[in-house]
Amino acid sequence: MRVVITGGAGFLGTQLAQRILSQGTLVSASGEVRAVSELVLLDMVPAAGHAWLSDPRVRQFAGDINNTDLLAEALSPNTGSVFHLAAVVSGQAEADFDIGMKVNVDATRSLLELCRKLPAPPKFLFTSSCAVFGGDLPDLLPDDQLPKPQGSYGIQKAIGEMLVSDMSRRGMIDGRSVRLPTITVRPGKPNKAASSFASGIIREPLSGTAAVCPTSPDTQVWLMSPERVIDNIMIAHDAPASSFKFNRTITLPGLTITVGEMVESLRRVAGDAVASRISWQLDPVIDRLVTSWPKACAGTFGKSLGMKADDSFDDIIRGYIKNYVR
Ligand SMILES: NC(=O)c1ccc[n+]([C@@H]2O[C@H](COP(=O)([O-])OP(=O)(O)OC[C@H]3O[C@@H](n4cnc5c(N)ncnc54)[C@H](O)[C@@H]3O)[C@@H](O)[C@H]2O)c1
Repeated sequence: MRVVITGGAGFLGTQLAQRILSQGTLVSASGEVRAVSELVLLDMVPAAGHAWLSDPRVRQFAGDINNTDLLAEALSPNTGSVFHLAAVVSGQAEADFDIGMKVNVDATRSLLELCRKLPAPPKFLFTSSCAVFGGDLPDLLPDDQLPKPQGSYGIQKAIGEMLVSDMSRRGMIDGRSVRLPTITVRPGKPNKAASSFASGIIREPLSGTAAVCPTSPDTQVWLMSPERVIDNIMIAHDAPASSFKFNRTITLPGLTITVGEMVESLRRVAGDAVASRISWQLDPVIDRLVTSWPKACAGTFGKSLGMKADDSFDDIIRGYIKNYVR
């Protein structure tokens, strides 16, 4: 079967693609374990610089996800699974309402409409976010916490979740939305997510450069490593439709830590000289968004499916060093 990853050239899209290729199979909507014969990466720009891109199963479609002709070409009739990761991230969606709506809402709807027209309803995995939560939040969010987003990105993700649930209820797709914590440590350059600092304060000092932290050391954040989030996305994809009750949304379990503790963790793993490259300067826009997000989620349903949080932030840093620091 064909598998499509939108945002397939991005941070998580490339890691997911590599995992799907090495695993070689996925559980289809009919419950059968099926071989992945084609893996389509759809993104603004083609993915580059990965050895696995030469795998004959990989096909790349470069262009805007709002182009429905491109989407229709990417979704051939034998498409069995769609992983919808393409998105405008939080900082950009807050700065530019129109681009956020266009990519995060309009394109999601167009993609779902095309999925609905496939000969058999495909599995559809949507990457939502903890940014759907906001307002007065308990310290530990229960699974049935009501979404009250305090930013445009969170609103747009909540709309996507609702569409996925309703179209699944109607049998148009076999969807599931996963609410991701902040994923760290992201390699490469900073992005436009308000949470970008959660990677920057580890990545930059480890590469010998300075990092500025835009929120206070007391800010609590809810995190997961890239490896663990891909494990959990695969579990969400393969879970049978019968696992879901009233909607198709899973809040992942994550690791809760303060930003100050993250820096202390870096000090333990990499030493004083590295940790001293971090300075603090409050950015009110970023601080407002980040502190509106949940600090901890129970993730009870996800855990019942076999999902896990990372054991410690020290391990997350060590994993990043092993994979990315020379
Ligand atoms: N990384 C995190 O901490 C995190 C946390 C919560 C949710 N998420 C969600 O997970 C998904 C993947 O996140 P990521 O960190 O890999 O982001 P990313 O920015 O690295 O990847 C997103 C990809 O989408 C592509 N894209 C954006 N607009 C597009 C368009 N109009 N047409 C085609 N492609 C387009 C980008 O080129 C990019 O490669 C996103 O949906 C994001 O909202 C991520």
